[in-house]
Amino acid sequence: MCEEKHWNSSQLRRYDLQFEQIPRIHYTDPKIDELISANKPVVITGSNIIKTARDHWTPEYLEQNLGVAGHTVFSSKTHKFKYFDDSKISKNNLNGIEFIPPTRKCKMRMGEFMKKLREWKPGNDRLYLQQPLNNTVGPLIVEDFAHFDWEYVNKRQAKHNWGPLTSNLLLISQEGNVTPCHYDEQQNFFGQAYGYKRCILFPPSDFECLYPHPVFHPHDRQSMVDFDRPDYVKFPKFGNAKGCETVVEPGDVLYIPIYWWHHIESLMRGGPTVSVNFWFKGGPTSLSYPLKDHQKVSITRNVEKMLLEVLQDPKEVGPLLRSMVMGRYSE
Ligand code: OGA
Ligand code: ZN
Repeated sequence: MCEEKHWNSSQLRRYDLQFEQIPRIHYTDPKIDELISANKPVVITGSNIIKTARDHWTPEYLEQNLGVAGHTVFSSKTHKFKYFDDSKISKNNLNGIEFIPPTRKCKMRMGEFMKKLREWKPGNDRLYLQQPLNNTVGPLIVEDFAHFDWEYVNKRQAKHNWGPLTSNLLLISQEGNVTPCHYDEQQNFFGQAYGYKRCILFPPSDFECLYPHPVFHPHDRQSMVDFDRPDYVKFPKFGNAKGCETVVEPGDVLYIPIYWWHHIESLMRGGPTVSVNFWFKGGPTSLSYPLKDHQKVSITRNVEKMLLEVLQDPKEVGPLLRSMVMGRYSE
């Protein structure tokens, strides 16, 4: 069978890196569980996991049925929506440099959001709705959600020892929006309901190539590298990152393993997109050696957190680490 392609490469943003393709595998194929077990990404095709969303969740249907509650909408002056943690802002007058949030968060009703999308013109702020599904959604959305293929999802959760489902984030994006490269501390089944998104993933072992902000920075878990204009003087190893990519289409579910970096872009000139993810806590971790790469990331995070705890000041963390390492562990 020959798959029809509904997009072309001119709709993809251009970066300095080259990427391998993430495998696309039919949901009945046991290779999917092998990849999940190995903490490797895979696009699950042909499944009914989010079939009801794929069949129904156009922006117009969501406008009619999402409910009248306010939803969280981010606005940005650029195409990038770099996430930040509000709770880490006040403490973080890092080296006297004030943190300027790159996006603004507001509450908006779905009708108002869709009106702004329809009337949007270049020069306006871009918008991105990101709202966990909750009990304020209308009855048709509840019905669609109830008819997700929970059996398939729950089987994967049990088989791979994931913790509980923590949330399903609904993402409604304008074309061309980018979620810059970051990692999450959760397992993710990322379901694409409407439109096309390009997802670029990097393994946890690329930690050194992607230069995450310090853990106490509002941009914790985000790469400091601007993919549009990488600063190779500050981030010389960026070019060594070993990424893989895919373009997810309606009905696809991409497995994003815990601690894997991901950059996600709605295709340019592709219209709005709708995604719904499934975030699960990681399983209980037993430390058996050799440690897995994502466990090393977790340990690094804890060391950073402990040092901040005892030193009390983010400015002191770097100098202490440097004095510990220089001449003793360097070389
Ligand atoms: C995620 C994520 C961003 C996006 O699901 O973890 O980062 O733009 N999504 O879809
Ligand atoms: Zn994410």
